Amino acid sequence: MRMVEEIVKNMTLEQKAAQLVQIPYAQVGREKAEEWARLGVGSFLHVMGDNAKRLQEIAVKSGAHIPLLFGIDAVHGHCLNRKATVFPTQLSMACAFDPALVKRMAQAAAKEISADGLHQTFSPVLCLGRDMRWGRVDETFGEDPFLAGELGAAMVEGYQGEDNADDTSVMACAKHYIGYGEATGGRDSYDTSITYRKIKDTFLPPFEKAVKAGLASIMTAYGSIDGTPCTSDKKLLKEILKEELGFDGFVVTDWQNVSHLIREQHVAENEKDASRLALESGNDMMMNAPEFYEAILDLVESGEVKEEQLDAAVLRILTVKKRFGLFEDPFKQADERYLGCEEHLRLNKEIARESVVLLKNDGILPLTGQKRILVAGPSADDIRCNYGDWTYFSHPLPDYDTQPVRPYVTLLEGVKELAKKHNCTVDYVKGCEINEEIQGGIEKTVAAAKKADIVIFACGDNILLAAEACDRADVRLPKAQRELFKALCATGKPIVTALICTKPLCVPEVDAHSTAVLTNFNGGMFGGLALAEAVFGEINPHGKLPISFPYHVGQQPCYYNQLPGWHCRSYADMPEKPLYPFGKGLSYTSFAYSDMSFDAKTLTLRVNVQNVGERDGAEIVQVYFRDIVSSVITPVKQLVAFRKVQLKAGESKELRFTFTRSDFSLVNAQERRVTEAGAFEIMVGGRSDDADLQKCMFTLS
Ligand code: NOJ
Repeated sequence: MRMVEEIVKNMTLEQKAAQLVQIPYAQVGREKAEEWARLGVGSFLHVMGDNAKRLQEIAVKSGAHIPLLFGIDAVHGHCLNRKATVFPTQLSMACAFDPALVKRMAQAAAKEISADGLHQTFSPVLCLGRDMRWGRVDETFGEDPFLAGELGAAMVEGYQGEDNADDTSVMACAKHYIGYGEATGGRDSYDTSITYRKIKDTFLPPFEKAVKAGLASIMTAYGSIDGTPCTSDKKLLKEILKEELGFDGFVVTDWQNVSHLIREQHVAENEKDASRLALESGNDMMMNAPEFYEAILDLVESGEVKEEQLDAAVLRILTVKKRFGLFEDPFKQADERYLGCEEHLRLNKEIARESVVLLKNDGILPLTGQKRILVAGPSADDIRCNYGDWTYFSHPLPDYDTQPVRPYVTLLEGVKELAKKHNCTVDYVKGCEINEEIQGGIEKTVAAAKKADIVIFACGDNILLAAEACDRADVRLPKAQRELFKALCATGKPIVTALICTKPLCVPEVDAHSTAVLTNFNGGMFGGLALAEAVFGEINPHGKLPISFPYHVGQQPCYYNQLPGWHCRSYADMPEKPLYPFGKGLSYTSFAYSDMSFDAKTLTLRVNVQNVGERDGAEIVQVYFRDIVSSVITPVKQLVAFRKVQLKAGESKELRFTFTRSDFSLVNAQERRVTEAGAFEIMVGGRSDDADLQKCMFTLS
């Protein structure tokens, strides 16, 4: 095994420059891609199967014989490959509050990614989803840094495996570093004015946990922080990430971030300027930046950039390539039979079921007795609504078409199947399209509803309303769906609403007029089936919201862990509380919390949780804390632990949570993370809203 340092020493300047470039296969095409491979380019993205193999054959025979690294957007499964398992999106998975489950998903996804001969997935997304206007909320684990960090670290572990060099391990690439979700106006890639203190306090912790879990690569965000593009922010990349966090993987820019420094962000005059800035600021690999190659060669030759700077970046990339076994086997590949295999489909169903969140239930669910059911709405029988972003529908690659591939089950199909068992009959009227201004199906739907005992209304958005560069100013249901819902309400029939949406939508009218509401966002292949199972009581839902639903777009941000204010606790025309708060999720049974105590010496919390209903069920117990007096203002509460507990009807369990002092830390005005002595309040319960939580105080000396 050659030592990477030695390889770097023997590389020509051209080979080093090429190693720092990542080329998009679909954009440049086969011929150009092969030229790049001969030149010794470091990496390609969005290339699969035989195309990847061919490029690798060229790369290992050319120049410095360094194996290529292939990256892919496999963010909820290897979904750009139509044979692969389409898992629920991150936001959907987050509803299960279950790191072990996320880890299993990532292990399965890694097997499918490497079955295609690929090595790196641009996942997990560790941005926080706090502004529903933003088009990429669906890609996040929700609004909370603690939850995002726990799930993100589990995902990294799952992808990378215990032995990184194993055929079934792939490199994780946490993104988008950093503050991307906070962009002004919820507009993708815009500037944000958050401070470094805020970054360290709120947005860095998920990345920090991913780094601790052994993260191989990290992607810089498109955006900028207070006027400095993330791509040219030395403090963010070098000081905080590489030095303070000790990140030893490599940094890759997002798509064309180098040229964005010139064209969109106007902090560089030309390609040389931008390339120098990107490299000097701490980026190691430049995604879709072919211009970087010539520019950096010129800069080194003219003495404006030192060759050692390239060496440092190349060394990071090669070290990761070595760690993942590419030098031993550039063609490492898992068994192709992993793609969409039975075991992964089973896991997929399990995740979809664990992710169902019941938001309202006036007692109508689970459905009992013989019923005539009308399934209505545009999301009921369109699998694209369940798949969400980054699937072969939304980002088709060359050689792949966009027809849905079985096995998948839509909500309608799930309801029809289960209706047989429950002696119910099912009619279906779509009623309208997802995003129509006016709809023509209203009369037909109303007529069918009048004949039914109950309506299951499936509504929401789809990837044409939410994606990268696709933000919304109005996050209500689109007009036709609102009209359809109104007409259904006028029939007086009970309505069970299934929200199949990429992210929280503002749906106060749906909440007010539905007898029951449930969601699992984009639940993947079996998201619809899981919702149908919940409706019929085949499963007892226990998912919780990883994100708050606002009443109204203008009421944002409404995440639960806000800093306290005092004058305007609520708006003159709107409550300040969300429609559905973080952590909320009902069940067909109920749980009671009692006997809470906290031992300040051992930092151990004890609490008793009892299933006081008549059905077996599971509860996701959430622990929050508040720092009573602190040098900087701290949130009204912050999640500090959670655990899923299965309880039979009537059963109770004592749960123990043990903490360390640093769990109660804050980032002070000097940007240092510290735990300040004094009083704290600790709270435990089944959701984030105050009234339901058990509380006690403790003191740290
Ligand atoms: C741009 C997106 O912002 C990022 O999330 C993705 O991984 C890259 N493009 C590669 O497709």
